[in-house]
Amino acid sequence: MIEVDISRAQSFLSDREFDKSFKKAEEAFKQVQKQQGEGAEWLGWRTLLAGPNDAILEQMGSLSDTIRADADVFVVCGIGGSYLGSRAVIEALSSFFGNSGPEILYAGQHMSGRYLRELISYLEEPDSEGEHKSVYLNVISKSGTTLETALSFRILRSWMKNRYENIKDRIICTTSAEGGALNKLIDEHNYQKFVIPEDVGGRFSVLTPVGLLPIAVAGIDIRSLFYEAVSKYEALENDPEPALAYAATRHAHYEQGKTIDLFTTFEPQLEAFCGWLQQLLGESEGKDLKGIFPAKATYSTDLHSLGQFVQEGSRTLMETFLCVRSMDKTLEVVEQEQDHDGLNYLAGRSFHDINSRAFEGTIAAHHEGGVPCIAVTMDQLNAQHLGELIYLYELMTAVYCYSLEVNPFNQPGVEFYKKEMYQLLGKK
Ligand code: PA5
Repeated sequence: MIEVDISRAQSFLSDREFDKSFKKAEEAFKQVQKQQGEGAEWLGWRTLLAGPNDAILEQMGSLSDTIRADADVFVVCGIGGSYLGSRAVIEALSSFFGNSGPEILYAGQHMSGRYLRELISYLEEPDSEGEHKSVYLNVISKSGTTLETALSFRILRSWMKNRYENIKDRIICTTSAEGGALNKLIDEHNYQKFVIPEDVGGRFSVLTPVGLLPIAVAGIDIRSLFYEAVSKYEALENDPEPALAYAATRHAHYEQGKTIDLFTTFEPQLEAFCGWLQQLLGESEGKDLKGIFPAKATYSTDLHSLGQFVQEGSRTLMETFLCVRSMDKTLEVVEQEQDHDGLNYLAGRSFHDINSRAFEGTIAAHHEGGVPCIAVTMDQLNAQHLGELIYLYELMTAVYCYSLEVNPFNQPGVEFYKKEMYQLLGKK
């Protein structure tokens, strides 16, 4: 179960302010349901949950079994919505060190030549038995033309051609049904292909093959993730109140002049999830000179860098905490005969318990310092709860953006840097 506690954000709002935003959220939800809002042709992230395609889940499941049995490394090549979602789930549910199964690495998310050279050197290093590493590559690009992804794919493909006699089974392309340079390469080389539904935009695509294939290769149960999102979809269709109240709280704070929402967590495994949220909200709401800038931080690490600002800096911030109620692996503080470090008062307590007190202390202090705080708590960190959380945030984002009167599903501003860059690069 997921609990969204908005009480520490609502306390800064009058009933009138909240009710006004809640009414807007109700209207916005109707627009989503009736497909009447701007960008309604991009609501495929809902229809794929309303009518699940089990055959695709099966197909991804069986391909990922094959890859897991053979691969040492699985490279995910994509940027923005084409990798942030899978990375968020994989990092949340994997061990920090030494996972079983293929190592998941990323490429195409920037244009650092040094990174790519070092990645290739690493792929060239023999495995622990002195053999060539077995490498698979999943290139993910809906447009099939994104420069960061396409350049990295070109370099990695050439390396693979030199390394393996047959790369056809080692390259999996996830892209639109047709169009784009990637489809030309697929047709020419007969690479394996998964289709990104036309009506699903990048940042809403984690529950399509964009996110699900890499997540399955990481050994995570995609059926649990996906079907829990389906359950959340059904639950929120019947009772949208949790998503609407969340959207309304955020909207009312925007109206009050809040310009930054700091997404934070005391669980470093959720850092990449905060990155996914940053994109989901940032690209959806930041347009027409509107929106709250989504920032991210990891606590308690960043309490020692940003904590001062959050507590006492300019009061333009709101804060969203992602929490986990119980952790399966934790550690206890041991009692020592000589209490030289003065920590025996914590003996017998788990790190999770201490970390949870740090969260409680921080949210209380920041709230007292004038920061509206929202706490989103999962009972446990598992595929089910992440599936639930993904859909909750997708819906909340759409509802909140319609309340702001912006189209949640386009990203016209992203084109501006591309235009300038292509001109400097001399693209015809
Ligand atoms: O959310 C989005 O639409 C973007 O972040 C895209 O996912 C990103 O720009 C990558 O695009 P593409 O998948 O076409 O390479």
